Amino acid sequence: MENIYTSDFLVIGSGIAGLTYALKVADFGTVNIVTKTDGSESNTKYAQGGIAAVWDKEDNFEKHIKDTHVAGAGLCHEDAVEVLIKEGAERIAELIELGVNFDKKANNKDYDLAREGGHSEHRILHVRDLTGAAVQNVLLEKAKKHPNISIFEDHYALDLITEHQVLNNLQSAFNICFGAYVLNAKEEHVFPFQAKFTMLATGGASRAFLHSTNPKIATGDGVAMANRAGVRIANMEFIQFHPTALYNPGSESFLISEALRGHGGLLRNGDGERFMKKYDERLELAPRDVVARSIDSEMKERREECVYLDMTHFPKEELQTRFPHIYKNCLENINLDISEKPIPVVPAAHYSCGGVMTSLSGQTSMQNLYACGEVAHTGVHGANRLASNSLLEGLVFAHRAAEKAKRKQLRPFRDIVIPQWDESGVYSQYEWYLIKHNFGEIRNIMWNYVGIVRSKEQLHRAARRMSVIYEEVESYYSKSKITKDLLELRNLTTVAYMIIKSALRRNESRGLHYMIDHPEKKEQFLKDTII
Ligand code: FAD
Ligand code: SIN
Repeated sequence: MENIYTSDFLVIGSGIAGLTYALKVADFGTVNIVTKTDGSESNTKYAQGGIAAVWDKEDNFEKHIKDTHVAGAGLCHEDAVEVLIKEGAERIAELIELGVNFDKKANNKDYDLAREGGHSEHRILHVRDLTGAAVQNVLLEKAKKHPNISIFEDHYALDLITEHQVLNNLQSAFNICFGAYVLNAKEEHVFPFQAKFTMLATGGASRAFLHSTNPKIATGDGVAMANRAGVRIANMEFIQFHPTALYNPGSESFLISEALRGHGGLLRNGDGERFMKKYDERLELAPRDVVARSIDSEMKERREECVYLDMTHFPKEELQTRFPHIYKNCLENINLDISEKPIPVVPAAHYSCGGVMTSLSGQTSMQNLYACGEVAHTGVHGANRLASNSLLEGLVFAHRAAEKAKRKQLRPFRDIVIPQWDESGVYSQYEWYLIKHNFGEIRNIMWNYVGIVRSKEQLHRAARRMSVIYEEVESYYSKSKITKDLLELRNLTTVAYMIIKSALRRNESRGLHYMIDHPEKKEQFLKDTII
């Protein structure tokens, strides 16, 4: 079967970033969106707390900018933060225009703005505790109806098409992206998707850790593909651990939104004591890195399996109305009524602050290759992302990338021949059975040695083990027919290795990267870790 798909724009990923970009560029070009499973499966769909923006009269840009910098521990890029915050409200107004119904106050006029850790004001727009799903549904519906957009579900991008593949035809090409090779998982066949502009919107990599709030799609594919193509990547060591995932051993993690603490939830240890006062004067609303580390320390010191988030001082009806998803999940999963008993919680890997380096218009270090959303490193999050700034980043920078595309003329396709993917190789069921255990091994290594608190010795141990896994996976990959599981394992291996390598280069503690052997911030490390 020989085939090639062509479009002006190829968008890899259908979360808030990919869909926002696709909807905007579809006004002046054809768009193919490829997405791993069904169009809605993404980190976006699970977002609970909401989207931060300066909306209230009492609030102003300076306050939100300052909060973002404080959380980011000195590493946020000033220009990127300014863009994020000053353009945020306009982008949210567009979402409202498209049909996202953010919750309003009882007067049915003003938006009900929530507060979360690290924010000095109430500024989080939300749709109860299901904000992401509300946004995802609206954007996906619009994309499905757009005549210029085709959505390819169960399609896994596996590598970017660059000059290496087409050099024979195009002697002068240098550092240009021509699209991507994509695995149709149902047909088990790889097709080239050629495009004038390629947008990486593949989300994060937190599935590299044993306990993660992210769905299975979050295997860092975009960063791994970019790395293989020689594109610049930054700050992979900054993995954000959300302080409060439901403690429910043996099950997939379920997030207990920071909005509960913003609403007045209290953290307690096994004796019912509010322990945050020992760690930070901002108590439960300190930035995430601080709260996650405090919980980790409290659990280790007291040898307890979890801490507790207490909402029992709120009326049942109020909790059922404001947090219906969390209320229902706790009841169904662990038979706990959150209005009657405190919720057992533990930290879990949640967000990748680093990623593919981009300009303020989403341009990567490769021509015609763009990135936006969680896969990108725009510079807005520094060493620790401020709560609810992520959906905002997806919106703002997808818009800017689309504006840049609009300014560029869509020229005819270059006269090149893109070769079909070489699908020779044999899939060995027996060998795969041995190799696939590496999924669990990677996630355990990362959780145990590259977690909330790190040390040089632990990181070196992780690096040694990962180098063995890396060789095994690469060797199997080079002789096997590609499958979606193999593709994800390969990407997870690459990304885990990049996180460890970046962590080993930062001999200090800053934001989310805490080293026991270097507990202080150091001036010489006030810079991005670039791969
Ligand atoms: P995603 O939404 O993750 O979308 C990635 C897309 O890329 C998916 O469609 C996926 O299938 C596709 N993809 C990946 N690899 C490939 C490939 N190889 N080929 C084809 N397609 C691919 N942030 C906030 O600001 N506020 C919140 O309240 C909030 N709550 C959160 C709650 C949870 C439980 C989680 C997990 C995250 C939360 N976040 C929140 C973070 C935020 O949701 C994400 O950072 C954001 O949604 C990322 O959007 P994105 O479009 O970049 O990626
Ligand atoms: C949450 O609801 O706690 C998640 C918010 C975020 O990740 O920004």
